[in-house]
Amino acid sequence: MNLELTEEQKMLQQTVREFAEAEVKPLAREIDESGRFPRETFSKAAELGLTGVAFPEEMGGAGFDHIAYTIVIEEISRACASTGVILSVQNSLYCSPVFHFGTEEQKKKFLVPYASGEKIGCYALTEPQAGSNAAALTTHAVRRGDAYIVNGTKAWITNGAVADAAVVYVNTDPSKAEKGITALVVEKGTPGFQVGKEEKKLGVHASACCELSFTDCEVPVANRLGAEGDGYKVALSTLDGGRIGIASQAVGIAQGAFDAALDYAKVRKAFGHPIGDFQAIQFMLADMATEIDAARLLARRAAWKQDSGARFTMEASIAKLFASEMATRVTHKAIQVHGGYGYSSEYPVERAYRDARITEIYEGTSEIQRLVIAAWVLKSY
Ligand code: CAA
Repeated sequence: MNLELTEEQKMLQQTVREFAEAEVKPLAREIDESGRFPRETFSKAAELGLTGVAFPEEMGGAGFDHIAYTIVIEEISRACASTGVILSVQNSLYCSPVFHFGTEEQKKKFLVPYASGEKIGCYALTEPQAGSNAAALTTHAVRRGDAYIVNGTKAWITNGAVADAAVVYVNTDPSKAEKGITALVVEKGTPGFQVGKEEKKLGVHASACCELSFTDCEVPVANRLGAEGDGYKVALSTLDGGRIGIASQAVGIAQGAFDAALDYAKVRKAFGHPIGDFQAIQFMLADMATEIDAARLLARRAAWKQDSGARFTMEASIAKLFASEMATRVTHKAIQVHGGYGYSSEYPVERAYRDARITEIYEGTSEIQRLVIAAWVLKSY
């Protein structure tokens, strides 16, 4: 693994950083307060190729590798965590399973317009009673001729309120438990497919996160990704890539909070000195910088393994576990550096602290990451 970014990756980083400063950051506070999905930013991000970073150009993507993908999600999340997760879900939870498990026909219809950002996608695995235990999902589908009749409810679906299509995990044979799970692409407008209530959350307010419900919803068999019963593997292998996205989101949130704390430490005076002159503050800044670096390297290492074509499940979970818990620690310290002002919504670290917390929960809680890592450690050594 080469730790130096390639010229192409450096140029992308520069471009995305400038885009994030000019177009993403200025909206971050407003969309946090209003909960409005930033559709205009999504469209501008699409023009830069950020809705399909690591997919081939002929598939509507930008043709970069997955290290580039970590750079994109980090830079966007540094400015706005909501926009970061919106793009992460588009890339790694919606486009990726269609790319890896779709037929050529399905890719034309369900990947090209999504990777290019003309349309928005989401991933519907979680249910009100099935989160960590994804295998326990109860949304079911019964085959009738050339269609599946789908019934059930999905919950906590990022991008759900605005998505043009969802990859929905259903059970086509509950007697087989997780081996009966099947992945279907369901398009908005399909009769019986309804968008439910939007969740009121602690952070990432603009991520259009909501319930989706299916009532006798007729989905063509032609929309099935892979074979009947392959869905659990589609879901879990997709989450490997998704977890690298969330690790990168956590790095970006932490970096944004660190930048704010560093600036503040240089200008805020106490006892006749800028507070950055005091070791109490210096030690916090040093710990923050060290942890951010470590998390970034873990995310890039996982992406490098993904690009190598080898299985990267453990590396993705390690990166997600460390980066998400790191983001909580770093944003906590960023508030501490700011003192009372850090607790005010006038300063961005208050939002970063709220946004960071979800990275320890979605796409697998820290406890689930520990289970995955332990399983690999016990198998491998
Ligand atoms: N890639 C490919 N195959 C995989 C795989 C992977 N990463 N992980 C597991 N598999 C395969 C296994 O090889 C096994 O196959 P066989 O039956 O042929 O042996 C099968 O899938 C079952 O694997 P496990 O027995 O290891 O799985 P498990 O049932 O014990 O569950 C779990 C594992 C770790 C608990 C898993 O259910 C899990 O990750 N749960 C958390 C779910 C989650 O992260 N949800 C997040 C929702 S999405 C979200 O949050 C979106 C958002 O808002 C941003």
